[in-house]
Amino acid sequence: MNHQSLAIFRPIGVFDSGVGGLSVWRALRELLPAESLLYLADQAHVPYGARPQSEIESLTHAAAGWMLDRDAKLIVIACNTASAAALPSLRLRWPDVIFVGMEPAVKPASERTRSGKVGVMATPGTLQADRFSSLVRRFATGIEVHTQICPGLVEAVEAGQLDGPQVESLLRACLQPLIDAGVDHLVLGCTHYPFLSPAIQRIVGPDVTLIDPAPAVARQTERRLHECDLLAPPAASPSLSFFTTGDPVALALAAERLLGLPQIHVDQAEIAT
Ligand code: DGL
Repeated sequence: MNHQSLAIFRPIGVFDSGVGGLSVWRALRELLPAESLLYLADQAHVPYGARPQSEIESLTHAAAGWMLDRDAKLIVIACNTASAAALPSLRLRWPDVIFVGMEPAVKPASERTRSGKVGVMATPGTLQADRFSSLVRRFATGIEVHTQICPGLVEAVEAGQLDGPQVESLLRACLQPLIDAGVDHLVLGCTHYPFLSPAIQRIVGPDVTLIDPAPAVARQTERRLHECDLLAPPAASPSLSFFTTGDPVALALAAERLLGLPQIHVDQAEIAT
């Protein structure tokens, strides 16, 4: 076997500050069942959302270096906040590595809205980044884009709270301004939020369409692997590995709760920034 034929069996690295990237992991598994996936959660530092951009950037660089040391053939930054802070500098530092990043789905929401009003739920880090203002400038001309930070939601999902009175009141506080503004499309601009979709949909009602970018990210990953001749063959038997900088037991429980994966093995990752 030559080098390229072995490369196709290397894993896709999937990185998030915590369990949110599992919403992208799920979309990758559905679209690319032959691919090995190496999931890394930086739960020692979650949440990223309110940290300074420079700190998020250096944590994300450390995570990318760790995944490259473990032979990732492509890295999905399955975190809007980390993508906003670090994607350009990751691509400069590792020009030969394929990075697939995330951004709030302002473009599809703006194309589909009938009311001309779209909502975006995301972390402060994502909404304050240049990447977000450039997205709005390029794709939302003439559209009202209503942004909303959602304090406490990432922590709730990390703790496995997807419903109940506490989550309901956090959600009502951040969704009411968007409901009042009359948005008809709501972008889930943080990978933790799709796990709250049933509760969000119940509050905003059936006339508001939620947009989860995870399936589009999976399709982009497939396109990039295809372009680079790096897709695993259909008969490959993939390995699925999980690492966290936090508590391995907590990530295993979260994977069970959020994805229905029973008793996965999770290892501890030591990452030096
Ligand atoms: N899941 C991350 C995102 O998509 C952010 C969560 C955090 O604040 O750490 O933005």
